Amino acid sequence: MDEILIAKDSVEPIYQQLARQLRLQIESGHLAPGDRLPPTRDLARRLKIGRISVVNAYSQLQDDGLIAAHPGRGTFITGARAKSGGGARWAEVGAPNVSMRELTRMARQPGVIAFSGGTPPEEFLPVEALRSAINTVLDRDGAAAVAYEDAEGYPPLRACISEYVTSLGIQCHADDVLITGGAQQALDLAVQALLGEGDALVTSNPTYLGMLDIAHVRRVIPVGVPVDAEGLRLDVLQNVLEDRRPGLIYVAPTYHNPTGTVMPLHRRRQLLQIARRYNIPVLEDAVYHELGYAGAPPPPLKALDEDGVVLHASGYSKILLPGTRIGYLIADGDMRDRLARVKQAADVCTPGLNQRAMHLYLASGALVGHLNRVRSELRARCEAACEAARRYLPPGTRWEEPTGGLYLWVQLPDEGPTAAELYVTAVQHGVAYAIGTLFHTDGSGNRHIRLNFATQPPARIDEGFRRLGEAWKAWQASYGPAVRRTPIL
Ligand SMILES: Cc1ncc(COP(=O)(O)O)c(C=O)c1O
Repeated sequence: MDEILIAKDSVEPIYQQLARQLRLQIESGHLAPGDRLPPTRDLARRLKIGRISVVNAYSQLQDDGLIAAHPGRGTFITGARAKSGGGARWAEVGAPNVSMRELTRMARQPGVIAFSGGTPPEEFLPVEALRSAINTVLDRDGAAAVAYEDAEGYPPLRACISEYVTSLGIQCHADDVLITGGAQQALDLAVQALLGEGDALVTSNPTYLGMLDIAHVRRVIPVGVPVDAEGLRLDVLQNVLEDRRPGLIYVAPTYHNPTGTVMPLHRRRQLLQIARRYNIPVLEDAVYHELGYAGAPPPPLKALDEDGVVLHASGYSKILLPGTRIGYLIADGDMRDRLARVKQAADVCTPGLNQRAMHLYLASGALVGHLNRVRSELRARCEAACEAARRYLPPGTRWEEPTGGLYLWVQLPDEGPTAAELYVTAVQHGVAYAIGTLFHTDGSGNRHIRLNFATQPPARIDEGFRRLGEAWKAWQASYGPAVRRTPIL
């Protein structure tokens, strides 16, 4: 059992602090099924708390089905989560159905600096501009703003997006733009339109966690292709295409989540050549395209696509307003109509009020200034994160400095805790991150962590990384080579 820290001056009742920390240890695998918990009296004495607090904590965990008491023998970890339902144990953390939600829930403890999420800086969300856009739309359009919208999307917004992507070099007409519920729905619609149950979907390994979730619920098989500093490895891709004949290649060529890599122009061209040769569509995910802070990235794949092999998905979640759920998918010809039908079946249409407000905001031209401010802040936060990583993380830690996006992808030293092992200690020290295995198709990546530096100002980034360094040292002191796996209690 890991160390338990009880704050007697906390507003959180003591029994809840204890139950929460034990739950974390069970979910992380630090306490495994069959492990025996100390008798209530012993634990109370050790933690210098009342026995009733321990009894209450145990009883809560028992209600949740995490532990079971056997009279005369003691209280044991069961590992089951009968009552809380749906939660997952860390032993299964690589499975796609262990969602980010579980991580986020753990990180949402008071005082924890969470680098775990996927959101852009909240203080940059243009709330006032949105309020005024919504009011203007309601005054201007009345009931039409809250009636059903076309399944394909609000026509002026489609026109506005087609104009924008044309400026990126994509040949596009407003009719080619399908408005979706965030980029997530764009990816999901493409998978639904192109793949059937049991089909193979090629993706980078590691990849965007949300795509693994889609593959899981749509029952398609993600086939991971490793990445190098230039993104997807095309030599491996060719072998996979020969062997598996997948129905779709999913790729995020610009500021890839989680690794941050940018695929250079020559590899983008080669990738398209290969896709064309095997006649396999490419689903391009471009949600971070605008978030470069070290120069402009190469053009999107869709801008290089002469044969209509690429579907281009993007949206406004990472650059503007995640909660309005406005994304888009650009496709040509028959594919466009098929996608519109799948969209209609999924949710009839994306909310018209949000689309109209987004259109007004974009038409005002305010996005350019907004993006300049966001990029410059992201650069500062990225520098703070890299500096703090150099200062606080243990020797042997590796990372590439990102040139865009929200994330630092860090490889922990070969000696020491894995990302999952460190997690509970990290949360106890007040810092959270996303565990590398979550992003992998094959359960690998257990020494990687993804840190979203974008949501914290530089001083908090520094403090968060300091805590992470402390957590690593604390873990080593408790479980390092000499004492590894020796229980404290
Ligand atoms: C690579 C990638 N694609 C798509 C999405 C989903 O974006 P949205 O919030 O627009 O659905 C995310 C969000 O984290 C992402 O990182």
